[in-house]
Amino acid sequence: MIKPNEEANSRAQVFETLMENPGAIVSSSLLTQRLSSSRQAVFKAVCSLKDEGVPIESIPQKGYRLESIDELQKLSPTMIEFFLRDNPLFNRCIYMRETDSTQKVIKKLAMQEAEAGIVALTERQSEGRGRRGRSWQSPDEKNLMFSMLLRPTLKPGEVQLLNLAAGLAVKETLGELCGIPSELKWPNDILCRGKKLCGILSEAAGEPDRIYYAVTGIGINVNMGPPDIPEEIAGVATSVLIEGGRRFARWKLLVDFLARFAALMELLSSRGGAVKLLSLYRRGCDTIGREIRVVQDEEIFNGRATGITPEGALVVHTSDGEKIFAAADVHHLRMAEGVNGG
Ligand code: BTN
Repeated sequence: MIKPNEEANSRAQVFETLMENPGAIVSSSLLTQRLSSSRQAVFKAVCSLKDEGVPIESIPQKGYRLESIDELQKLSPTMIEFFLRDNPLFNRCIYMRETDSTQKVIKKLAMQEAEAGIVALTERQSEGRGRRGRSWQSPDEKNLMFSMLLRPTLKPGEVQLLNLAAGLAVKETLGELCGIPSELKWPNDILCRGKKLCGILSEAAGEPDRIYYAVTGIGINVNMGPPDIPEEIAGVATSVLIEGGRRFARWKLLVDFLARFAALMELLSSRGGAVKLLSLYRRGCDTIGREIRVVQDEEIFNGRATGITPEGALVVHTSDGEKIFAAADVHHLRMAEGVNGG
């Protein structure tokens, strides 16, 4: 009887061997040697990989061949873990076709003492959550929805820094991998031409002076086209497909983002790293210097965003003087709206 862990290892080894021989037929005997196991175990691993959506061709009497994964739309956890092999933080990917919320999945693992570096990924959430108790909706198999387990050495008042780091990493991925310019709207939205392409939600548990764990969850609209956008958000949402004019392999976006986010988390944990992170964020943040409306606990403030504090809070000059918002909903105003009080 093969144990689940051994099965995962076999899948990983088969995938790795096929990746080492791109486009070539890899014989079953080579795979059995590599796995030090039976043909049957190899066959089982190949079947599981195929179930995950990895495009493997079985060639009778000869072996197996990995077809191109360049445009692959499926999210295979084995494949994603393979591409995380050089990632200093993330090494485990849990894929669920459906779940309540990936935030909940990660919180459960965190409470069972799981280590940082796990990514929970799904196609459908029955209780997908956005900020301030809102829901997060996304059509099946088009976008990215995932949460990450983090154990940063931050104070609870600094959790906002995780949103800023994640936002920066998404912006870098969109720009450098997809060629799509985007705007960072404090604290955790990524917009393209004023429309939302990505939302981020960070939650943490801890004591007043330390965090036990944090969960950063991200929803990126990747391959949803105009017909997939729910009516209520049609005017305010966009996607990589809409902005870039073509579908994107979601696994590539995820792997690229996780590399960039891990690097920013390393920066954040280094001496003086928060200051460096904030200076990167300020440079990329579209909110700073703008006339904005801030909605916090049913109160509305209009003013000009002037900066970000060391904890990641927003500094706003209002007619009542300077105000600092640790967390709030921000609306960017056009100049005329700002001047008129919008
Ligand atoms: C927001 O813009 O309000 C934040 C949205 C965060 C959505 C993501 S999708 C994956 C993860 N699981 C959730 O339930 N929410 C986050």
